[in-house]
Amino acid sequence: MAQSIQAIRGMNDLLPEDTSVWQQVEKVLRDTTASFGYSEVRMPIVEQTNLFCRAIGEVTDVVEKEMYTFEDRSGDSLSLRPEGTAGCVRAALEHSLIYNQEQRLWYMGPMFRHERPQKGRYRQFHQLGVEVFGLNGPDIDAEIIALSNEIWQKLGISEHLCLELNTLGNAEERAAYKENLVKYLEAHFEDLDEDSKRRTHTNPLRVLDSKDEKVQEILKGAPSLYDFLGEESRNHFETLQKHLTSLGISFKINPRLVRGLDYYNLTVFEWTTTALGAQGTVCGGGRYDGLVEQLGGKATKAVGFGLGLERLVLLLTTLEKVAPKPQVDVYVCGMGEEAEAEQLLLCRDLRAALPGVKIMNHCGGGNFKKLLKRADKVQAKVAVIFGDDELKNNTLSIKDMAAQDQQTVSRTDAAAAIQAVLNK
Ligand code: HAM
Repeated sequence: MAQSIQAIRGMNDLLPEDTSVWQQVEKVLRDTTASFGYSEVRMPIVEQTNLFCRAIGEVTDVVEKEMYTFEDRSGDSLSLRPEGTAGCVRAALEHSLIYNQEQRLWYMGPMFRHERPQKGRYRQFHQLGVEVFGLNGPDIDAEIIALSNEIWQKLGISEHLCLELNTLGNAEERAAYKENLVKYLEAHFEDLDEDSKRRTHTNPLRVLDSKDEKVQEILKGAPSLYDFLGEESRNHFETLQKHLTSLGISFKINPRLVRGLDYYNLTVFEWTTTALGAQGTVCGGGRYDGLVEQLGGKATKAVGFGLGLERLVLLLTTLEKVAPKPQVDVYVCGMGEEAEAEQLLLCRDLRAALPGVKIMNHCGGGNFKKLLKRADKVQAKVAVIFGDDELKNNTLSIKDMAAQDQQTVSRTDAAAAIQAVLNK
C-alpha cells in the first residue's frame, strides 16, 4: 500500500463538526463588526517579503524566525502572511483608501507562522483583524476595545477574559526611554538570560515581557516608561481609561505589555484568559500611527487588533458555550426509480418554498428502515416519506422525528405541514 500523506504539522483540517462551530462564531464576528459600521476587506495571503520586514520589524520573532518565505518562479521573495495589518495598510495605500479619509475595516482569514505547535498555537491559524485609519483620539481606541468586548458578551465569555492595557508613548518618548532602559540592562547584563542579553541591543522593550524569573526580578528596579511620557501621551492614556470605565469595561494596567510586533505606539492592549493554559492571549492590538508613513504613505493615524479564532473557538468549546448544530432539518426519503425522480423535484420545490430550511435528499436506495435510520443519523427533525401509496395518491407522509408521529398530506400542503413541525 502506498504511504499516506499527512497534513503539515501545525496546520489543521476543520471537519464538519468543527466548521459548524466555526460558522456560528464567524457569524457573531461578522454581525458585531457590521453593527459598528465596519467594512470588510480581503487581501492576498502572499505578499512581498519586504512588506513584512518593514512593517513588523527585522528584529522581531515573527520576521527573524517564523515566516514562511520562498522564492517564486520569477525569483521574487514572497512570504505567507504572518499577520494582516501589514497587508491591510499596503492595500489601503495601493487603492488610496486612507489619504484624507477615515476607514474602519475588518478582515478574516488564515495567517502563517512557523512556531512550535502546541495547544492554542499553530502554524496556520485564523484571525479576525480590525483596522481603523485616520482617527487619532482615545475614543476610537475605546471603540475597538468595546467592539471586542461586545464579541465576548455575545458569546457569553466576558467573565473569562481580562483586558490588559499599556501605553508605549510616542516615538521620541520611547527612544528616550529605550536609552535609559538599555543603560539599566547593561548594568545587570551578566544576570540576564541569553534571550534578554540579545534583545538588550536589538529590541530592548521586548526584555520587559521576558518570562525568565531572574529577569523579571531585575526589571523591578528598571526605569518606567511612564516617567518619560509627555502631557499628550499621558492624556491619551488617561482619557482612554475614562472611556473604558464609563463603558463598564474593566482593565488592568500592565506596564510590561509591549507586544511582539514593532509598529505600535501609545495604546497597546491584550485580552487574556487563564482557561487555555500557556497560549492565553485571545486578542491583541493597539495604535500604530507610524506604519502608514513607514510603508510609503502620508502620515496617517491608525489603530487595530487581531483576534485569534482558534483560541476563541478553543475557549468556547472548553467552556461549552457552543456545540455543533445539525446540518439537516428535513430528510426526504423515497424508494424505487419512480420515487427517485420525484424526490429531486420535491426537494427543489421545498427548498423554494422553505428558504433557510436545510433539506437533504436521500440518494442511493435502500429499504425504509435504512432510510429512517439515515434521517435519524443526520438529526433531521422531519422525514418526508414517498412510499408507493403516496406516489399513487400524490401525497406525502411527514414524520415528526422527535414525536415519532406521522401524517399524510397532499403535495400542495407539504411545505406548510413541514414548517408546522419545524416550528414546534
Ligand atoms: P498578534 O498579537 O501577533 O497581533 O496576533 C493576534 C492574535 O492572533 C493573538 O492574540 C492570538 O490570539 C492569535 N495568534 C497569533 N499567533 C498565533 C498562532 N501561532 N496560533 C494561533 N493563534 C495565534 C497581530 O497579528 C496584529 N496584526 C494585531 C493588530 C492588528 N494590531 C493592530 N492591528
